[in-house]
Amino acid sequence: LRVRILLILLGCTSAPEGLQRPAGVALCYSPTGDQQTSAFFDVFLKADYAARPAALQALEGAAMALPSEEEVALVNGLGHLWRIAEPAPQDPDSFLAAALTAKAEVQRAFDLCPSDYRIPAWLGPILVNMGRQLNDQATIDQGLAVLQVGIDHYPAFVQFSKLLIYADSDGADFQKALAAVESYPCPHTDPACVNTPHAVHNAEGAALFLGDVYDKAGRRDDALAIYRAAQQSKDYASWPFRPLLEARMAGSPAEYIWRSTSQCSVCHQR
Ligand code: HEC
Repeated sequence: LRVRILLILLGCTSAPEGLQRPAGVALCYSPTGDQQTSAFFDVFLKADYAARPAALQALEGAAMALPSEEEVALVNGLGHLWRIAEPAPQDPDSFLAAALTAKAEVQRAFDLCPSDYRIPAWLGPILVNMGRQLNDQATIDQGLAVLQVGIDHYPAFVQFSKLLIYADSDGADFQKALAAVESYPCPHTDPACVNTPHAVHNAEGAALFLGDVYDKAGRRDDALAIYRAAQQSKDYASWPFRPLLEARMAGSPAEYIWRSTSQCSVCHQR
């Protein structure tokens, strides 16, 4: 099993031609959508928190002006998710307003493009977290149901979100995060499983999450194997978060990555 995950991560180091998603999974992106989101991606890939409020405002405007563009709705929603997951002193808006925008826009993107089965990977955790905050079991159940739809259609991308939902829990729920890691299906022929222009350090960032779950489970050797494999990535040398991984390997106490305010940037920052 450990070998399997190593292969997955090593697979991430090269992006072969002809990357392919599972049958039935299709995005509804368009040249207009690419154009309307490109300024945001510049900000996101630089983790430029000072430029973020203006970039999000521009996305909100584009989403209003182009209500049928999946990509604009999705990136608007995920941009607000970034603001929630990595709050910064420059943020002018309220946390709650950003959370509501994230939920509404990611949901709207899924309505616009039901074949984009990546979306449950984001919508599921948004709903579960919101339900947990509000102590609202119906919303939690709705989030878990959406997540399962995604896992059924696109496990290589969506199963990772089981880790996100359960890693911070204890007992039986934490075991669900561990089980998701142990059976994580990520073929290196799938764009969700390699480093891409918008997820520049996917492989290295994923290693922090997978390794931290093993570490929390008391499986230090398995954690180390994952961290070591990430160092083999051809993009490791340019990864801004090398110190996080190296501190873990040295045994220094580290905040679990799913609690940190770099939880998006570890995969996305150039
Ligand atoms: C483990 C690595 C990882 C983490 C952590 C991560 N992402 Fe991603 N993200 C990806 C990958 C891989 C994709 C590309 C999925 C695909 O298209 O196959 C992606 C896609 C995206 C996209 C859409 C990109 C596009 O081209 O349309 C956005 C926006 C995004 N993520 C935002 C976030 C935010 C916000 C967070 C934090 C809450 C986050 N990501 C955390 C790996 C990660």
